[in-house]
Amino acid sequence: MSEPLVSVEGLTKHFVHREGPFGVRKRPIKAVDGVDLEVHPGETVGLVGESGCGKSTFGRVVLRLLDPTAGSIRFEGQDITRLDAAALRPLRRHMQIIFQDPYSSLNPRMTVRATIGEAMRIHGLVADDAEEEARVADLLAKVGLRPEHASRYPHEFSGGQRQRIGIARALAVRPRFIVCDEPISALDVSIQAQIVNLLGELQDELGLGYLFIAHDLKVVELVSRRIAVMYLGRVVELAPSAALHREPKHPYTRALLSAVPVPDPKRERARIVLEGDVPSPLDPPPGCHFHPRCAIAKRGLCDREVPALRAIGEGHQVACHLAE
Ligand SMILES: Nc1ncnc2c1ncn2[C@@H]1O[C@H](COP(=O)(O)OP(=O)(O)O)[C@@H](O)[C@H]1O
Ligand code: SF4
Ligand SMILES: [Mg+2]
Repeated sequence: MSEPLVSVEGLTKHFVHREGPFGVRKRPIKAVDGVDLEVHPGETVGLVGESGCGKSTFGRVVLRLLDPTAGSIRFEGQDITRLDAAALRPLRRHMQIIFQDPYSSLNPRMTVRATIGEAMRIHGLVADDAEEEARVADLLAKVGLRPEHASRYPHEFSGGQRQRIGIARALAVRPRFIVCDEPISALDVSIQAQIVNLLGELQDELGLGYLFIAHDLKVVELVSRRIAVMYLGRVVELAPSAALHREPKHPYTRALLSAVPVPDPKRERARIVLEGDVPSPLDPPPGCHFHPRCAIAKRGLCDREVPALRAIGEGHQVACHLAE
């Protein structure tokens, strides 16, 4: 396999939660708790899990938009874990993010041309106005927008079009890695496939690596070569998409998959209902974080010992004491 584009080891991000009078009592919120993951050039790795399990935090720490508490991040072999802002600046353009809500991430007072052009200018990628104009037109065409859209403002566009603008802005700096943080969750179903297809075409053309975040396994399955399933800050299963679909090993993955409709009713999976809510990362259950919701949890083991992520098949890893 190629050298990883992005490689993280033991990545951890704790926020501080303050409570009590004057916030004197401090407790860690373990949003991301020791994650290992690689993304290769041209590859999409899906990251899936319920809301609040740490997906966005993970994506932001990988991009060094947040500082990690522990662990390491490498980009194309270079350790960027502790680089300061000045040292990070030239690397920023290679690592971009596309947000769930394209509207809140676009400046309402800037035209599309200014929004896309700004990113290119900041990174010194265009020599003059004429070149900038030409490249903006080029990018708009690439994401399926028309040249006259350049002079319009974000509020003049639909949700799907705004997401295209967000993608054009991310592409403007010719990145090699993009964190797609729930890029289609806020869009109408009819538009979702268009954006997914667009991201796929751009990946093929430009050889981009994606970390594709979603709370919906259906979406992630569609786009990813490999999938990491996250639960309360930890990866509980990592596998090639097809293997995860065919042979999910972790009880949590099985529960997520059982909620996905299968086209053939004869093959319908027994529906596993996930009982209870996701526990708070302020008070994660001891041992396997999933044990209070797990139908096969073994007392004395699952509630005491943290299951390590271990290999169980070709490229397939699971963190469960009982999986085989
Ligand atoms: N800036 C922050 N300060 C404190 N807690 C945070 C912050 N950002 C996220 N969290 C907490 O970290 C956990 C993970 O959040 P997040 O990464 O947004 O999850 P997801 O994207 O999977 O929904 C949540 O409990 C959230 O409340
Ligand atoms: S380690 Fe135990 S509690 Fe956790 S998923 Fe496996 S069986 Fe369930
Ligand atoms: Mg999120």
